[in-house]
Amino acid sequence: MKFKNHRSVVVLLFAGIVSVIFLLDSCKHDEIPVAKFAPVPFSDIKPIFQNYCGTCHNGNGTRNSRLNLNDSIGILRSVIPYNVSKSKAYQAMISTFQIMPPKIALPTSKRTLIRLWIEQGASPN
Ligand code: HEC
Repeated sequence: MKFKNHRSVVVLLFAGIVSVIFLLDSCKHDEIPVAKFAPVPFSDIKPIFQNYCGTCHNGNGTRNSRLNLNDSIGILRSVIPYNVSKSKAYQAMISTFQIMPPKIALPTSKRTLIRLWIEQGASPN
């Protein structure tokens, strides 16, 4: 491809830069608007852990019970506020390697509620 003059190169270059900017801009994802959701109270979260996890993780000294998901302190220790990817209790619920509860997945609505609660800072109230 031959350019007649210097100007066409400049125009092409400019068009290229503009399209790259548009492309990058269209890749931006909106943040999950955590603040737009009503705060999830711990009283909504605790029974989920107790019913779906606490039956096995009940602190009675067996291997699966180093975690105590039957009481508030144990539940709060199993998550990292604002950090879903470092919250081992949540990661266990979405694991494809060893899903918790074993064999049956937690209903999506309950998992989502727990995720939102963690992203809001895992309030103990
Ligand atoms: C039917 C019993 C049972 C239920 C219900 C159950 N778990 Fe487990 N869980 C186990 C067993 C057994 C292990 C240990 C597996 C191993 O070490 O090989 C385990 C391991 C784990 C671990 C890894 C423990 C560690 O110290 O790293 C996490 C985290 C976990 N479970 C979270 C949960 C969560 C969260 C729930 C509820 C959503 C849940 N589990 C429900 C039996 C259960």
